[in-house]
Amino acid sequence: MIYPIVKFPDPVLTTPAAAVTEFGPELRRLVDDMFESMYAASGVGLAAPQIGRSLRLTVIDCSVGEDPAQKLVLANPEIIRREGKQTGEEGCLSLPGFRADVTRALGVSVRAQDAEGNWFESSGEELLARAMQHEIDHLNGVLFITHLSTLKRDLIKRKIRKLQKDGEW
Ligand code: NI
Repeated sequence: MIYPIVKFPDPVLTTPAAAVTEFGPELRRLVDDMFESMYAASGVGLAAPQIGRSLRLTVIDCSVGEDPAQKLVLANPEIIRREGKQTGEEGCLSLPGFRADVTRALGVSVRAQDAEGNWFESSGEELLARAMQHEIDHLNGVLFITHLSTLKRDLIKRKIRKLQKDGEW
């Protein structure tokens, strides 16, 4: 099932999500639906709060459906290593049409559970590291605009308010 993507300023996006505690068929269905919803929106990452579920769960696929080996499910993820720095343009399915440069770690390692509840570690560099940090931020109620200067953030918020007023958001 393809879920609609929740957009800023829905409060679910700025609320820290709850830990995943039930690993069973229902969670596997949710994971499948999240991949389907992410591909439908042409995204490389999607966090559960973005479909209105306040859970510490995210899916990532930097190949956008081209390479099944790149599908990653992270439940209850924590970043356990950060290395280096990268600055690059970033966007978010919950802020469609807005992109800005964000500085993040160049490489990260995460510890997380898979859809069956098994703990594992995974490392990423460059785009994958960026996606991991962006999606884990979502689980903490943090959006990429939080990392921008107040000036840039307020400009985006003002533009969104105008789009809302015009019924285009
Ligand atoms: Ni996002």
